[in-house]
This record gives sequence, C-alpha cells and structure tokens, in this order.
Amino acid sequence: PETGCLSIIVLGASGDLAKKKTFPALFHLYRQGFLQPDEVHIFGYARTKISDDELRNRLRGYLINEKGASPDQSEILSSFLQLVKYVSGSYDSEEGFRLLDKEISEHEISKNSQEGSSRRLFYLALPPSVYPSVCRMIKQCCMNKSDLGGWTRIVVEKPFGRDLDTAEELSTQIGELFDEPQIYRIDHYLGKELVQNLLVLRFANRFFLPLWNRDNIDNVQIVFREDFGTEGRGGYFDQYGIIRDIIQNHLLQVFYLVAMEKPVSIKPEHIRDEKVKVLQSVLPIKDEEVVLGQYEGYKDDPTVPDDSNTPTFATIVLRIHNERWEGVPFILKAGKALNSRKAEIRVQFKDVPGDIFKCKKQGRNEFVIRLQPSEAIYMKLTVKQPGLDMSTAQSELDLSYRQRYQGVTIPEAYERLILDTIRGDQQHFVRRDELKAAWEIFTPLLHRIDDGESKPLPYQPGGRGPAEADELLAKAGYVQTLGYIWIPPTL
Ligand code: BG6
Repeated sequence: PETGCLSIIVLGASGDLAKKKTFPALFHLYRQGFLQPDEVHIFGYARTKISDDELRNRLRGYLINEKGASPDQSEILSSFLQLVKYVSGSYDSEEGFRLLDKEISEHEISKNSQEGSSRRLFYLALPPSVYPSVCRMIKQCCMNKSDLGGWTRIVVEKPFGRDLDTAEELSTQIGELFDEPQIYRIDHYLGKELVQNLLVLRFANRFFLPLWNRDNIDNVQIVFREDFGTEGRGGYFDQYGIIRDIIQNHLLQVFYLVAMEKPVSIKPEHIRDEKVKVLQSVLPIKDEEVVLGQYEGYKDDPTVPDDSNTPTFATIVLRIHNERWEGVPFILKAGKALNSRKAEIRVQFKDVPGDIFKCKKQGRNEFVIRLQPSEAIYMKLTVKQPGLDMSTAQSELDLSYRQRYQGVTIPEAYERLILDTIRGDQQHFVRRDELKAAWEIFTPLLHRIDDGESKPLPYQPGGRGPAEADELLAKAGYVQTLGYIWIPPTL
C-alpha cells in the first residue's frame, strides 16, 4: 500500500451527510487502524465561520452517541479529533480554496520530512448544484503537489443530475476538470456486504450457473421498503422523488449485478463493462408496467408543496432484451412509509413440470438475498413434512449472517467505500457511461411524472403501498406463497 501524507478534505463539513455518514466512517476507519495518525490529516471545509475546536466539539457530540460507543472510545475519539482541522470559505471563490491549499500544504511539508507524498482526497458532501464550481476551485487552487507525487481524487454523491441531459451536463463539466480515474461517484448500496457478495454468489457457485436464466427463473424482485416517511427532508425529497432517490441508483445497481453476464475478470473495468452492457439491453419502460404512489400525509410536511406530484412509492417492471432474460420481468419496487424496513432480492423460479405431489400447489422455489436488516441468504424450497404422512411443506436452507458469522462485524457501506477511494479501487463506484445508461432508462418516465401526466396513487402510511402494485406483481407472474414466512433465527 501507498504511504506518506494523506489529506482527506470533507467539503460541506457542517452538513447532514458529513455528520451522519462521512465523519463517522472516517472515525471507524481510524479506530480500526486504516488511517495512520502520522500520515493522515482531515480538513473540514464549509461556509460557516467556526473554529477547529467548534467543529471537533460538534463531531464529538455526534460520534460519542453512536451505536456501539464505549467509554474507552472517548480517548480514541479525542485522538481522532486532533487530526481534524477546519477551514471556512465559500464554494465559488478562490480565497477560501487558496487558504485550504495552504493548510494542506503545510501539513504535507511538516509530515513529509522523511518521505514525499501528496495524496488529496476531496469528499463533496454538498448539493450537486455546487459540484462544478467546487471542482473548478479544487483544480485551480488545491491539486496535489506534483513534486511530492501522490494524487488528487474527488468523491461525489448522488443525485448526479435530474435527468439524462442535466446528468450529462454535470458529467461534462466535471469531466473537463478531472479524468475518470480521479472521479469516485458513490452509490452506497455498492458498499453493502451482500451487494458485494452477489458477484461471488453468482459466478463462484456451480449451483446457480445453469439455473440463472429464462428457462428456470420466472421473475425477479428487487425491493426496498422503509417504515418511515420523508420527515425532515421533505424539501430535498420532493425535488427528486423515489425513482431518483432509490430506484435509478441503488436498486438499479443491484439489478445490474443480478442480471449481467460474467465479466472477463474481477478487474473493476471488466465488471463495469458488463454492467453497461446489460443496461443497454433494457427495453423502454411501459406505462402499464408502472405503479406510482404517494403516502397520505406526505404533503402535510411544510417543506412539500400542496400540489406535489412526487411519488414516494414506485413499482416498475424492467425487461431485458437478451438471450438470458427475454420474457423475465425484473420488478423494482421502492417505497417510503410502508409496513416494514427491508431491502431484498427475491428470485422466483418456475413451477416444477409434471408435479407428482398431488397436494395443492404450496409455493415456488425462491432464492432470497436479504440485504438488510439481518443480512441473510436463504432458499425457500419444498420438503417432506416430517412425520408419518407423505405430505409436503415449505421450508428453507438458511444462511443467516448473524448466526453463521458470529462475532464478525460487517463494515458500514461508507467505511468500505472511503477506504476504496484511498486505495484507488473504482470497482464499487459508478462509471460515467453507467450513469448515462441509467438515466436513459428512467428519463422518459420521470418527464411524464414531472409534467403531471403520470400521477401517483394515494396509499395509507404503514401499509403495503397501493393495491395496484400487488396487482402488477401478480400480472408480471409473481406468485405469493401464502402462509410461509421466513423467520430470521435468533441467537
Ligand atoms: C439514501 C436515500 O440514498 O438511501 C434515502 O437518499 C434512503 O432516502 C437511504 O433512506 C437508504 O439507505 P439505507 O442504507 O438505510 O438502506
């Protein structure tokens, strides 16, 4: 691994994302020894005028209350916070960025007495509207000092644009300043343990290889449910809606990994090439294969306009025009304010031909990957009901992580992804052409919603979403197994 001075600059340091995700992830990396105190310096940058200590105190207040915090953590936390400095300035003037550069350089010089390196990681925890100006400022004022070696990388968060045109414009603006290997577009779903496992499951197991196609699989569901609404962030959410917030990025990334062909190798570019290919085979979304919803009460949020047409729920069927998947619906479903919180992939197999068990059809084989909570992989299958009778029942082969990997801590998505940016591994980041292909699929539908042509149906908070969505599922071929519930094992 590379050594020498590493500066991590969190732009938007006083915002929500920095507080909730970026700084905690940095702290966890530090605690685990991935950020060495003699190499690393962290800079917070934002407009608010506060001192180093004020930022440290704010962060302390937040990090100390984190889950899993223990008394001995307070010492580690203090030593971590000593690495954090703060610089204030605007996002579009050179003054602040010159000051930032000066601070970074000073630390590079003081730390580099033995060994030269100028590694600079800029994390843009900012709204995308300021990405172009911030990137310009970084380019003009804050690039790594080439005589010291090292690199400059920038990390950006979704939403990358609102539709195909705005996303392309943003990509062009950033692309004029930085090369693709310097740009890390984060989609935190790619940092989740079971999302990362998909590649291994699919391509390292003889079980799945011959079954993973239209001959055996009837339909695939990729589901995201939250049991809370948009409380506190209605203003942001209303401009984007569930498709831009969850489906076009998080669920689509999962979709790629389920549907793509085997990459030539596990090199990041080979994997990303396959993702783009499968996306290019996706057919235009049909109106009759979309159900939109908006939960009742969503518009009570004072930051949401009374006439908002923004969906908080959507079920969308994607169809792939290729040899493996022709005719198999991929049902992407996401909703806020539903009856549970979970994210899972559910692969439903076709019925067994020539069924000799005269029992009433009990259910189909399913392969389920539970991304969260309680990470698990399980196969729902038919077995003989134990006992004297020759009857059948639904059961499961269950790999529940908490039980199987006791004592193993599953890293947070952001932790893992930030470490990748330091190591220069782009496998779990979104490439420019991937992003473009993703927007191509959803833009026509998004425009119909923006124009008010497609309207969300009202649904009760705390329920399953609009009944029409279940009807669409059934029409697409999904057969629900009644009376079978998978119960995660308790320890
Ligand atoms: C974010 C969305 O990207 O992902 C949020 O903006 C959503 O609306 C969140 O709540 C879900 O992430 P996770 O990791 O909790 O599933």
